[in-house]
Amino acid sequence: MVVSEQLDSFFTEKMKEYPTQRSFLVPMLLYTQDELGFLSNEAIEYIANKVGLSELEVRNVITYYSMLTTKPRGKYNVQVCTNICCMLRGANELFAHCKKTLGVGHKQTTPDGLFSLEEVECIGACSWGPAMQVNYDFHENLTNEKVDSILANYKKKSEQ
Ligand code: FES
Repeated sequence: MVVSEQLDSFFTEKMKEYPTQRSFLVPMLLYTQDELGFLSNEAIEYIANKVGLSELEVRNVITYYSMLTTKPRGKYNVQVCTNICCMLRGANELFAHCKKTLGVGHKQTTPDGLFSLEEVECIGACSWGPAMQVNYDFHENLTNEKVDSILANYKKKSEQ
């Protein structure tokens, strides 16, 4: 089994609450990614079978959402929005700062596996840009100094 037995049982039970099995696809992808770190070929095959879709249909959904990945990422995935509202408030400069601070480029991971960096489209925090998302956490009204402090906190958290 690709996922834990516990997660597989959870999926089986939870799917009963949805009108169709495929309605549970996105949550299932997120739970699986949380457990495995990324959506491997084996995970995609497992999920496709579980919800009765083809692997291609599952892959089409994965490529639509920037929070889903078929490749391993760092422990903390830093997604900086550079869409229009954030861009007008300095997101491009902020992303450049992140690249410099982390020493990696778009869709790259630091050698210690701690951080991945990504430039993404709108994350729904337009009124508080520039904004970024780190895993499930949102950070808004960012400055270079705030970003440095946020990244340092994640680093510290990983050492505990
Ligand atoms: S444009 Fe950046 S959050 Fe919407």
